[in-house]
This record gives sequence, structure tokens and C-alpha cells, in this order.
Amino acid sequence: VLCWFYIFPVYRLPRDKDIVEEVLGQGEAWQKNQTGIDLYRKLLTECCEPRKMFAVTKENSPMGKVLWYDGEFYHSRTVNNETYPLFVQENPLQLPLKKCAVVGNGGILRHSKCGRDIDQADFVLRCNLPPLSKDYVEDVGTKTNLVTANPSIIEKRFQNLLWSRKAFVDSMKVYGSSYIYMPAFSMKPGTDPSLRAYYALADSSSNLTMLFANPEFLLSVGKFWKGRGVHAKRLSTGLFLVSLALGLCEEVTAYGFWPFSVGLDEQPVSHHYYDNILPYKWFHAMPEEFVQLWQLHKSGTLRMRVGCCP
Ligand code: CDP
Repeated sequence: VLCWFYIFPVYRLPRDKDIVEEVLGQGEAWQKNQTGIDLYRKLLTECCEPRKMFAVTKENSPMGKVLWYDGEFYHSRTVNNETYPLFVQENPLQLPLKKCAVVGNGGILRHSKCGRDIDQADFVLRCNLPPLSKDYVEDVGTKTNLVTANPSIIEKRFQNLLWSRKAFVDSMKVYGSSYIYMPAFSMKPGTDPSLRAYYALADSSSNLTMLFANPEFLLSVGKFWKGRGVHAKRLSTGLFLVSLALGLCEEVTAYGFWPFSVGLDEQPVSHHYYDNILPYKWFHAMPEEFVQLWQLHKSGTLRMRVGCCP
């Protein structure tokens, strides 16, 4: 019986249809709750120290420090002459950040007209090097201050940077002078592509600054949500970024978080705003994550945009 519980952890989760109804019931109403915001910043600071720990820095990872990979069983890498020079000195963000927009890649963004809203935020965080071409600008905007890049994208989209690096460097230009945040020390095979991405950008005098996600931070954020009922092998990138934003920003609005196949108008919604490629099923628990985020929305701790923007 236990086994079944592990394989089908959806037993506690409301059905998609119920979630749609619940969200419709709430409507556009939202009221900021400063106590909730302060509480979450405090909780996240206590568990995970986002200000100090979100990136690998010379300050938190000096020479000789052992970095334990958060996504591997018992694997580590010691900071040495090869890696230390690649780290920024300390947290480079000007804190506190005021209004932050965290942009997930959900299909609900399509035709949302949220681009202007997103671009008006003081700090915009995006996931997995998303497309920002002309076709999408109206819905997702262009401003980017921090964008995550999974090493698997480097492998799949840019031939692991073993051949030409020009295509990679050119396609990074849409992110302007933002930070590129890579989990270089999460999974063993991800380290080399991440270091190559660093060098590709550095050698081409790119305006982007590479920040390596600190595996200690990723692990602690994972535990934080596990304690709140998110049971997944790994948190989704979006939930990591929302957690980071709740720790660093005065106000957080999340866009593009909707891991369901029907929208509020009961019409089909694609998984991403740019394609309909579904994630590997049991890796993330996006609907569970959504339920958590929706609770935070209802309590006024962050704002979720799930409909069109005015
Ligand atoms: O790599 P991952 O599967 O985590 O993410 P993605 O598909 O590139 O989307 C970025 C983030 O947006 C995810 O990590 C989710 O948090 C969120 N998302 C969502 O809530 N609903 C969707 N339909 C798609 C993405």
C-alpha cells in the first residue's frame, strides 16, 4: 500500500476542475498582507538565508570549501584554483528589491497581455532561457534581470558548447545585462556544461553575469517546501525563484504558473506559452506547488496572475 502512495501522491490533491472552480471563486480579488510578507521573509531567511546563500560566492565558498551536490547522492566538489576565480565576490544584488515579477513558462501567459505589467516590475526573474521574441512580447514582456539556465538546455540546444559557441552567445543577447543563474553543482553531468557556458560568455565580453546556484541553498529550499507538503523529487525552477523572490523582494507577483490542461474559460491550455511539451511526469509536483502558491495568494503574501492583465 505504501508503494502506491509513493507512486500516486495525488491522493491528497484536488482535481484540476476543482482548482479551476476555486480560482474562479476567488476572482481577481487580492489584498496585500504585510504581516504575511514579513512572516515568509523571516521563515525563508531562517531556513535558507537567501541573501547570503542563493549563489555560490567567493565569500560563502572559499578555497577548500566542499560543495555537496544537492541532486546527487553523496557527490561533492572542492573549490579550487579552477573554480574559485569563476565565482562572484559576494551577493551582487542591490537589496532589498522592490517589486519583483517571477515569470513561469505556463501556457496561460499566451494572450494574457501581461507583458507591460511584467516589464514595469523593478526586478524580473525568468525560468530556463525562455523565448522573448516579437510574437510573445505583448504577453510576457522583455525585461529580464535574472534568468535561470538548466545545464540540460546547454546540452540539447547548444551541443554542449563543444562546437560553436556563437549561437549560444547570440541567443543570450535578448536577456540584456541580466544575471544568468545556473545550478552548476546540482547534478554531476551539469557541471562541465555550466563552466563552459561561463567561459563562452566571459570570452565574448557578454553583458550577462553568471551566477552559480548554491547547492546548499537549493537543498534548504527543497526541505522548506517538503515540510509544507510539496512531495517531488525536485522542486520546479519556478518555485525556487518564487522562494528566492519572497526572501529578497518587498512585493512579489507571479505570472505563468498554471500546470493544468484547462484554463479558467474551460478551454485547453498548452503547457508552455511557446510549446506543449510536457514535463517528465513524476519529477516535479507542479499541481501541488500551485496549491501552495495559491494559498500564499489568498493570504496576500504574493500575487498570482492567472488571468489577463488589465
Ligand atoms: O524546468 P521546469 O519543468 O521546472 O520548468 P519550465 O517548464 O521551463 O517552466 C518554468 C516554471 O514555470 C516551472 O518550473 C513551473 O514552476 C512553472 N510552470 C507552471 O506553473 N505551469 C506550467 N504549465 C508550466 C510551467
